[in-house]
Amino acid sequence: MAKELKALKEYLEDARKRKYALGGFCFWNYAYGMSIAQVAQKLNLPMLYIIGDAEVKFFGGEKNAVAAARTVAENVDVPVILHADHFRDFESIKRAIDAGFRSVMIDASSYPFEENVERTAAVVEYAHRAGVSVEGELGRIAGCEQKLSVDEAEAMQTDPDEAAMFVEQTGVDILALSIGTVHGEYRFPPHINIPRLQKISSRVQIPLVMHGGSGTPEDKVAEAVQYGITKLNLATDLVKIVGKATADVQQQEQFRYSVANLYAKAYEDLAKYAEHKMRLLADNIL
Ligand code: 13P
Repeated sequence: MAKELKALKEYLEDARKRKYALGGFCFWNYAYGMSIAQVAQKLNLPMLYIIGDAEVKFFGGEKNAVAAARTVAENVDVPVILHADHFRDFESIKRAIDAGFRSVMIDASSYPFEENVERTAAVVEYAHRAGVSVEGELGRIAGCEQKLSVDEAEAMQTDPDEAAMFVEQTGVDILALSIGTVHGEYRFPPHINIPRLQKISSRVQIPLVMHGGSGTPEDKVAEAVQYGITKLNLATDLVKIVGKATADVQQQEQFRYSVANLYAKAYEDLAKYAEHKMRLLADNIL
């Protein structure tokens, strides 16, 4: 029988208690997923995949993504978690849960506070009945394409008092914050707001999440883990690694086309990157 995927809540609660974090690695096919899962297995850490709308489409639907993650789970001894990332409405989350996801994010952060609460609480009610963990988001995380002044960028960040109210009113298990990271590549020097994180962390006891892990300074990431960040989402870096490795190998004079020749270096580089990030995040327990 297929090994079941796990819910995320208990793993991140342990991480918050013991001050470490898991990488949330973007998942877009079995082979890349497996190269990272082998690292999780080596370090004896849970394998946490995140998957957004675009990757679900790439898989050809939620069921195929779940099947691929379950196949990984059958091939490693560590728990495997597949987390729906930035799903924006109740219907797509319901579809994901019905397809076998045990962990979801509802991102209603573009709505005013009250509507974010309402939309998130509705997902929490449905998901909890099915034993599924829920991540909510408060504050807006900038996209790499956005050019913002320092004041504009800070105005989008999570407010500590609102964060406490949001958690109480929605019942979410996990909270994603905006504290200065961006999705995609940084087009300006990153300024990670650790004092703001400290304030949020003193008011909110549930596990906290940092999005936009690619290119975020590692000393800031390590500091953030000490203040309650338990998951660092990573996507852009992974795609860049694969793109670069497959392009580089084709430049070699002796290169001959085969699937292994084209992708072996990419798998190897992904595994190295994953190990580096996992060790950085879980330094406290490894
Ligand atoms: P990066 O693409 O910047 O790593 O961000 C990933 C992310 O936060 C997905 O939710």
